[in-house]
Amino acid sequence: MSDSASRAAYSRRAAEYIEVLGSMGAVHPSDRQIVCTWANSVEGELLDAGCGPGHWTNLLAQQGASVRGLDQVPEFVAHARSAYPTVDFALGSLDALGGDDAGLGGLLSWYSLIHVEPEDIQVPLREFARAVRPGGTLLIGFFEGPLVEEFAHAVLTAYRWPVDELGGQLDAAGFDVLESHVRKTAGQRAHASIAARRRAAAV
Ligand SMILES: C[S@@+](CC[C@H](N)C(=O)[O-])C[C@H]1O[C@@H](n2cnc3c(N)ncnc32)[C@H](O)[C@@H]1O
Repeated sequence: MSDSASRAAYSRRAAEYIEVLGSMGAVHPSDRQIVCTWANSVEGELLDAGCGPGHWTNLLAQQGASVRGLDQVPEFVAHARSAYPTVDFALGSLDALGGDDAGLGGLLSWYSLIHVEPEDIQVPLREFARAVRPGGTLLIGFFEGPLVEEFAHAVLTAYRWPVDELGGQLDAAGFDVLESHVRKTAGQRAHASIAARRRAAAV
């Protein structure tokens, strides 16, 4: 799925996404705990990469983080700027984040890699590795499954990953996996997160 196809698909459904999922009220309490605990451990600048409507970015800013949000969808960035005027939001791509090499202490990619075709996953992960300083950390939220496989997500095709396989991709991009969580509820998709630390050595 190209960036432009994914951008167009989210643009078309941005208003609906904002209404249904664009607030902390729609977030599972355990996800909130995982993200906030991780963010509290970050030293330095934090980027919410693929921030969507910006509710996570705003939460982390309220909790004292030096954080900005980035998304490819103009409707999301416009909404986020209007809803959270004291927080910094930019239009941009996961594949070219801008900013200095090693300029970030932490990067949150909360369900923003779910549409990347598995053979292309190293492109954003290596860009994350460029942007996060050695010793800095990454937190990824994603859909978990026993195999890397696509499924029909409401917005556009998405992919579920086994934790170990996505962890292996993180390792290849220059991150050491620190911890992971999987949440399985009967009748629902399985959700997972991986926290990882940027290695000092060149990839
Ligand atoms: C499932 S939504 C998650 C949004 C938000 N992180 C949340 O948890 O509600 C995926 C987000 O990733 C963004 N995204 C996907 N691919 C992107 C890319 N290549 N560059 C920038 N943003 C991207 C989408 O525009 C969308 O806002």
